[in-house]
Amino acid sequence: MPRLLVTGGAGFIGANFVHYWFANYPDDHLVVLDALTYAGNMANLEPVRDRSGYRFVKGDIGDQQLVEEILLSEKIDTIVNFAAESHVDRSILGPDAFVATNVVGTHNLLKAARKIWLDGAGGRKPHRFHHVSTDEIYGSLGPDDHPFTESTPYAPNSPYSASKASADHLVRAYHHTYGLEVSTSSCSNNYGPYQFPEKLIPLIIINILHGKALPIYGDGLNIRDWLYVDDHCRGIDLILKKGRVGEVYNIGGNNEWTNIDIVRLVCNLLDEALTGDLELAKRFPDAPANKGKKAEELITFVKDRLGHDRRYAIDATKCREELGYVPTESFETGIRKTIAWYLANEKWWQTVMDGSYRDWLEKQYV
Ligand code: NAD
Ligand code: DAU
Repeated sequence: MPRLLVTGGAGFIGANFVHYWFANYPDDHLVVLDALTYAGNMANLEPVRDRSGYRFVKGDIGDQQLVEEILLSEKIDTIVNFAAESHVDRSILGPDAFVATNVVGTHNLLKAARKIWLDGAGGRKPHRFHHVSTDEIYGSLGPDDHPFTESTPYAPNSPYSASKASADHLVRAYHHTYGLEVSTSSCSNNYGPYQFPEKLIPLIIINILHGKALPIYGDGLNIRDWLYVDDHCRGIDLILKKGRVGEVYNIGGNNEWTNIDIVRLVCNLLDEALTGDLELAKRFPDAPANKGKKAEELITFVKDRLGHDRRYAIDATKCREELGYVPTESFETGIRKTIAWYLANEKWWQTVMDGSYRDWLEKQYV
């Protein structure tokens, strides 16, 4: 029975992975290690708090002694590394934390895994180190370019993607040099429950509910390939179970949208949900639908992100052909589920949007 260490499990994708895992493998043992940065939130793990086979450790992946202790005492055989600084805008304003966690932190996990799994007193142990990476390591596509494959050359453009790319190279090197049994997944943009409202989709939902401007960077024609978060988790599961050691697998939604079209879609869906709903009208009096207006009127074009990548798209052929992976959630249903989740979980997003976050966001646009 696998014994997992899930780093960054209190963040958006990590928490969804924990819920996915227990829903599918209720008897497994799973330890979450998370530093609880601004993006980590114990509320994301509330549904599993008291279940058996689960333990939470607050700590930094950069603390090698702590990681070694967990690997030994919990008899961990699988690490799934989600822990990261994940927001591109923050990496532009302050890259240091990205190098510290994404590069040095990941290297630290690798060192601990090597020591306990390869060089331990009892000899080599069965293991897997799965590293969660991103499509941003491949850089930016032109409008007619073929989507990223696993052999697309690395060309990271932001401090965030450069730090993720560095981590990927270290993971690869630990396999090649020391024989650590690794795998890496490079995934496109995720959306779904528990996503921190600095990222495009939850930010737009919450701003509409408050009747606030919807900031669109540049001309709004940048393209992202959106995937429902559960489908990312399922892809990682398949890689852990059936993926080849030492390999990289791209995971994507085959679902490219310009930012402006995504924002318009969310506007229309929220107008539809709010119109004629008295309970929602009472809770969100500033939403345009309650004033006989359209949410689209809030769209505001703002200064572009520095070095803004134009287009990401994933070719997931390898994952499909080798592992039988296909996304199961359609965008139509996934985006509706996501909006419904944010409407039903106002307490969650009010809590995570504390003063320090609002100050930071304000500085972005003032
Ligand atoms: P997130 O920012 O929501 O969560 C990151 C989590 O890592 C938080 O819980 C945070 O507290 C924790 N963390 C940060 N620094 C840490 C440290 N030093 N030690 C321990 N824990 C630490 O991020 P996310 O969107 O859930 O992304 C998870 C992973 O998936 C990241 O590696 C990211 O690069 C990758 N990824 C994200 C997306 C996406 O669309 N969000 C797409 C592809 C890949
Ligand atoms: O592609 C995978 C990546 O997707 C992950 O590796 C990152 O961790 C994740 O944050 C995400 O990066 P993006 O930069 O693509 O996501 P974000 O939600 O920040 O922005 C999506 C697009 O929307 C991007 O082109 C920038 C634009 N944008 C974003 C915000 C927050 C706006 O126009 N306005 C905004 O306010």
